[in-house]
Amino acid sequence: MKKIGILFGQERSFPYALIDRINASGAHGVVAEPVQVGGISLESPRIYDLILDRISQDIPFYRAILKKAVADGTIVVNNPFWWSADDKFFNNVVAKGVGVAVPKTVILPSNQHPPDTTSESMSNLLFPLNWDEIFSHIGFPAFFKPYSGGGWKNVYRVANLEEFFAAYKESGQNVMTLQEEIVFDEYFRCYAIGRKHVHIMRYDPRQPHENRYVQRPEPIDPGLYGRIRNDCLKLTNALGYDFDTLEFAVRDGIPYAIDFLNPAPDADVASVGAENFEWVLSHASQWLIERVPSGAEPVARYHWQDFLASHREPARAALPARPRPGGASGPRRAAAPTGPRTAAPRPSGASGSPPAGAGDASPRGPRRQPSASPDPKGEA
Ligand SMILES: Nc1ncnc2c1ncn2[C@@H]1O[C@H](COP(=O)(O)OP(=O)(O)OP(=O)(O)O)[C@@H](O)[C@H]1O
Ligand SMILES: [Mg+2]
Repeated sequence: MKKIGILFGQERSFPYALIDRINASGAHGVVAEPVQVGGISLESPRIYDLILDRISQDIPFYRAILKKAVADGTIVVNNPFWWSADDKFFNNVVAKGVGVAVPKTVILPSNQHPPDTTSESMSNLLFPLNWDEIFSHIGFPAFFKPYSGGGWKNVYRVANLEEFFAAYKESGQNVMTLQEEIVFDEYFRCYAIGRKHVHIMRYDPRQPHENRYVQRPEPIDPGLYGRIRNDCLKLTNALGYDFDTLEFAVRDGIPYAIDFLNPAPDADVASVGAENFEWVLSHASQWLIERVPSGAEPVARYHWQDFLASHREPARAALPARPRPGGASGPRRAAAPTGPRTAAPRPSGASGSPPAGAGDASPRGPRRQPSASPDPKGEA
């Protein structure tokens, strides 16, 4: 008998419906149940043939035991090693490499030092940053968001330098990316299962959380549908995710991948709606039933390696450092990347303190979108 375990957090509708669907499928020799786990020793035996992980992004203990489960021969969906290593900036690197459009993106050092480090630890950091280049590359308005994480936490839309620096200051120790805003005509969120089944849903991120999945959606242009489907397959095959959602903002007919690191995607019937729920339930259950007999894959290499190898360019010299005041020579000690110090022209009156309205939902200030409607499912 092959045993499938479902590991989940606060969600209720999807995990229990999935267990019921698998058990009612009549699939010979497959049974599903909620994972039961306590202390695990090095010698603890393998219990599950496959575990679907819906929550280890929030519970490090689970991530640790899932790695051991992989070592013991359990198929874990999604691969806990790769999920631990991945981040959204790297995702954009892979997307570009496999020919999926992404917004122009720059990753920045955190505004505050990481825990237990000081300016002495920043030996290798260019200071000041090349702000002119960064801003002229990305432009305004822009999105300023964590390089890893989810649930719309610490996602800002910044319209100008002043809003950017206020948001940067507020971002503290988070590593953030600054990203070109894609002013979209249409927006889609897609389920991708088993790197082969894709379900494209119209999604309206401007609506409150519970209304974002568009019910009774307009049909999608067939050319656009085909391209988004293909992009979902390229990305999930390159990243190796078997259960994921991928978001696309469409500008001038081109789908730009906005967020595709969601390995425990929202599947709650109350937010996705009955039709999408039925799709994810039937495809997830069928795919898990098909997947479990074939056994674990050896974790030998990363999926994206093959996809990127052909695009590699020779190394280039780093950007030249800016001349330092006083012509410092010898070992360089970079200053702390603390406050919003900038070499770029600042708007008159900008003092580095947040403008009036910063942090509120007003369209003038750096909009802190998540506070309006956090995603309760805590998508990764
Ligand atoms: N470059 C961009 N252009 C336009 N809109 C963007 C851009 N980046 C983010 N957004 C908007 O901000 C929202 C949240 O951003 P993103 O999906 O990257 O964060 P998240 O925390 O992963 O969210 P979730 O967990 O809900 O997927 C997106 O759904 C989109 O509406
Ligand atoms: Mg998102």
